[in-house]
Amino acid sequence: MYNYKQGESRLALLNRKSLQLKKKINLITATNQNCKISEQYRTIRTNFLSSLNCINSRTIIITSPGHDEGKSTTAVNFAISLAQQGKKVLLIDADLRNPILHYSFKMENSIGLSNVLSGNLLLEDSIYRSGIRDLDLLTSGPIPFNPAELLGSEVMGKLIETVSGQYDVVLFDTPPVLEVSDAKIIANQCDGVILVVRYGKTKNEQAIEVKKFLESSKANLLGTIINNK
Ligand SMILES: Nc1ncnc2c1ncn2[C@@H]1O[C@H](COP(=O)(O)OP(=O)(O)OP(=O)(O)O)[C@@H](O)[C@H]1O
Ligand SMILES: [Mg+2]
Repeated sequence: MYNYKQGESRLALLNRKSLQLKKKINLITATNQNCKISEQYRTIRTNFLSSLNCINSRTIIITSPGHDEGKSTTAVNFAISLAQQGKKVLLIDADLRNPILHYSFKMENSIGLSNVLSGNLLLEDSIYRSGIRDLDLLTSGPIPFNPAELLGSEVMGKLIETVSGQYDVVLFDTPPVLEVSDAKIIANQCDGVILVVRYGKTKNEQAIEVKKFLESSKANLLGTIINNK
């Protein structure tokens, strides 16, 4: 099923899809625990867990202003880092337009979040073990024609409630805030938001616009990660 962006031609869509297929998410926190990057993820984890004690945040979305700024890379490595500390973590691919987490973990994506939200599958039948201890995965499932409606549905609200009772931390990888409304829709239903900005790519105005937007929509901005510095 195709998911065109507004005004996008079929050729542009196919180019975008093939670029997405070539993308690689580096699971560096799993493959090289001793490197500087893994250490930096541990620092983020420490800061995050100390804020968790104060505000009891369990369901967290990872987002950014634009595309290719490192949302998925951050979500995956942050999830692994939390699981390595013994936290029970669920990582959800809520980017129903350009899902990528199943590639990172070399998994099928024939079932996942979109099936659960459409009412075709039970949540408990859709969650995979990631292969990393304490880290479970809910992939996006087939790309739906109505992602924003599914993410804003009552079923999504119930799903968030259920998983927050089953896991210590639930992380949602999402699409860019300034491109589609999906992240804003989920942000309103979750406990907190981590904003990723990419050094040398994200413009100051974009970061400020997203921050203001999140504040005005009463989303709880926990912090910002500067990626690739
Ligand atoms: N810190 C980094 N160092 C090197 N490469 C990185 C870094 N962060 C991300 N990348 C690379 O940049 C590309 C985009 O990263 P990623 O897919 O995580 O971004 P995204 O914000 O999730 O993109 P999208 O908007 O398409 O969902 C990927 O190929 C990824 O491997
Ligand atoms: Mg992504």
